[in-house]
Amino acid sequence: MNSRFLLFPFMLTVALLACNSGPEAPRGFSLPEGDVAKGEAVFRKYQCLGCHSLEGFEDPDITKEFSRPVMLGGDSSRVKTYAELVTSVINPSHKLVPRAIKLESVVNEDGTSKMRVYNDVMTISELIDLVAFLQPKYQVKPMQYTHYNIYHIP
Ligand code: HEC
Repeated sequence: MNSRFLLFPFMLTVALLACNSGPEAPRGFSLPEGDVAKGEAVFRKYQCLGCHSLEGFEDPDITKEFSRPVMLGGDSSRVKTYAELVTSVINPSHKLVPRAIKLESVVNEDGTSKMRVYNDVMTISELIDLVAFLQPKYQVKPMQYTHYNIYHIP
């Protein structure tokens, strides 16, 4: 058989395997469990409501940057996994919202997100708590936290 015909299924298998277990897969990604109440304080501290809406949360003192704020939470958003939720906070340009919302120019001229980058100001503890606060607002499968006792050798 012509080797080209074998090459294609081989490449496909490699590509599929890479999706699940490659170095870029979220497997093994584990943040410690966060504090929801502290996470809400972080959400307010960094004024996320300046660009976002979140059901049940309002802050009239914050200047709104968009006429239609980007909704957080719910099941219609792009965030489908815990890893995506964390990614959207620390690497906002990784996954941009669909074109319809982009009409309101939520992206800069160079195509990056207008979302502020918090990486130099937010502590990792703040990030952990913030994600613990936001995660239940999404239809995201709860994270499998590390249960340290499984490492206990009797
Ligand atoms: C200056 C405006 C701005 C601020 C402030 C801001 N964001 Fe965003 N954020 C955006 C924009 C615009 C998007 C959607 C476009 C994109 O994907 O970058 C977004 C997307 C997101 C998403 C993914 C949206 C989804 O559900 O699909 C999350 C989660 C998020 N932001 C969280 C936060 C949190 C938490 C804060 C506060 C620490 C924050 N953002 C502050 C502009 C902002």
